[in-house]
Amino acid sequence: MININRVVLVAALAVSASNAWAVDAGDAVAGKAVFSHTCQNCHSVEIGVNKVGPSLWNVVGRQAASIPDFSYSDAMKANKSAWTASSLDAYLADPRGDLHGVKMYFKGLPAAKDRADVVAYLQTLK
Ligand code: HEC
Repeated sequence: MININRVVLVAALAVSASNAWAVDAGDAVAGKAVFSHTCQNCHSVEIGVNKVGPSLWNVVGRQAASIPDFSYSDAMKANKSAWTASSLDAYLADPRGDLHGVKMYFKGLPAAKDRADVVAYLQTLK
């Protein structure tokens, strides 16, 4: 006879394992929600639409400070690398402390999960 408690336990472990994986990979749907209440006041995700901050369309893999008609800080212009998931994670953790963050008046996202989710969402903007 099947031990039903054991089956339930195994199923629960499988669910929590897949959730753990989702945290690491970032959840784009949750990230879109984070974006709409923390980034959208300053950033559009449409091509060519700059607000207080530059458009974030296709930002992952894009050279930092590369929107031609946006007036970036000198620190951001000095950043010659393309945005990656890990550099975005570092920037969003502490935008004003991170080397290139001087102009973004935003305290950052302290929760690693929020950052992973928002970066997963940014990766969908292509
Ligand atoms: C108060 C307004 C404001 C908020 C809120 C804000 N940003 Fe920004 N963001 C800016 C400004 C201004 C810049 C330009 C920074 C510079 O030139 O130093 C910027 C720059 C950036 C860049 C670099 C873009 C590029 O073209 O190199 C990224 C990526 C970014 N922000 C992501 C985010 C994300 C994701 C959030 C939400 C979690 C967010 N920002 C919240 C104003 C904001």
